[in-house]
Amino acid sequence: MKEFSCRTRIISGAGACGALKELNSRRVFLVSDPFFEKSGKASQIAALSCADQVKIYSAVAPDPTVEQVARGTAALKAFAPDTVVALGGGSAMDCAKAMVYFSGLDVTFVAIPTTSGSGSEVTDFAIVTCEGVKHPLIDDRLCPNVAILDSDLLMELPAKLIADTGFDVLAHALEACAATGANAITGALSSEAFASAWYALPRSYRGEKSVRLQMHEASCMAAMAFNDAGLGLCHAMSHAMGGILHLPHGRLNAILLPTVVQVNGSAAGSSYAALARRAGLGGSAEVMAVRNLKNKLIALRRELNLPATLTQAGISREQLRPVTEQIVAATLADPCCMTNPVAVTGELVRKVLTEVTGL
Ligand SMILES: NC(=O)c1ccc[n+]([C@@H]2O[C@H](COP(=O)([O-])OP(=O)(O)OC[C@H]3O[C@@H](n4cnc5c(N)ncnc54)[C@H](O)[C@@H]3O)[C@@H](O)[C@H]2O)c1
Ligand SMILES: [Fe+2]
Repeated sequence: MKEFSCRTRIISGAGACGALKELNSRRVFLVSDPFFEKSGKASQIAALSCADQVKIYSAVAPDPTVEQVARGTAALKAFAPDTVVALGGGSAMDCAKAMVYFSGLDVTFVAIPTTSGSGSEVTDFAIVTCEGVKHPLIDDRLCPNVAILDSDLLMELPAKLIADTGFDVLAHALEACAATGANAITGALSSEAFASAWYALPRSYRGEKSVRLQMHEASCMAAMAFNDAGLGLCHAMSHAMGGILHLPHGRLNAILLPTVVQVNGSAAGSSYAALARRAGLGGSAEVMAVRNLKNKLIALRRELNLPATLTQAGISREQLRPVTEQIVAATLADPCCMTNPVAVTGELVRKVLTEVTGL
């Protein structure tokens, strides 16, 4: 027996934030980061709700920590809203999701992503860092009630952020298609998400604004797929390394993904090949399709000016050596390992780590 569920109402399009008014909220608590508070965007979006009382809470940094979540939870309880709006990338959305979860409050939770992206607007996950380890909290009560995909918020995205977060979308789709929890519905979503992101990402990076909504919807579909199918080794390692090395999540996925495709290729070849063909990457024989996929990911990474190795990302071998076993242990403890198509061992993690370290 298989199950698929999507509990989030998704509203998408240019100006979609206008739908906030329809929620008839009276007390809105908006969680964002300092960038959106300073730009005035947080207040503008909150005002669209036409609520009587609005509080902007912007003490969220990239990769939120338990301490940030605890402070935010106290502020949330003190305000006692009927609606919580999370405006930002995966960090702001995850922090807000964890705050609502730990507050125990019964609120309408609205997620408005500003990157394409984590897909956190439709997932049961919130990634919270504790003492240098990124822990995925997983509970269906973390899933937002409403997701607003407003392409107007994506017009000023910096190219570097498009590249980092776009590779996260490709990693979500690729890992979901090969995950042990994949089924026909998650397969259709991951395949469509990958093909769509493959088309839109390089164009968006080059400054084409007309594809930004397509990229946003691809991000959302990839997340719907992995929320039910699971992820894999790329995300387990990226969570482990992100907590310790403090590199952006999507950039770590870009470094890891081609190598993970290669090491999973023996077990996931047919899934990868189907996805690659759907995206027009060619390869009639399975083994050729997987090789093409790996090589094209490397070429796209180069086109988006993303680092190919940890060394290129600014992490030296000397920095890495003392934390290698910590990364291995954190990877093996990460729940994303459980749905990887190949059993994850310490030896496999060390092999991938050696490959992605670079000279
Ligand atoms: N919950 C999930 O399902 C899930 C899935 C994947 C990743 N994640 C988590 O999400 C986090 C990464 O999220 P992210 O990649 O969206 O980045 P982010 O939220 O960490 O944001 C990175 C930076 O980009 C800025 N930013 C965001 N939107 C912007 C915009 N429109 N214009 C200009 N600057 C903008 C932010 O202010 C921030 O400084 C990681 O902690 C990762 O572990 C969660
Ligand atoms: Fe991710």
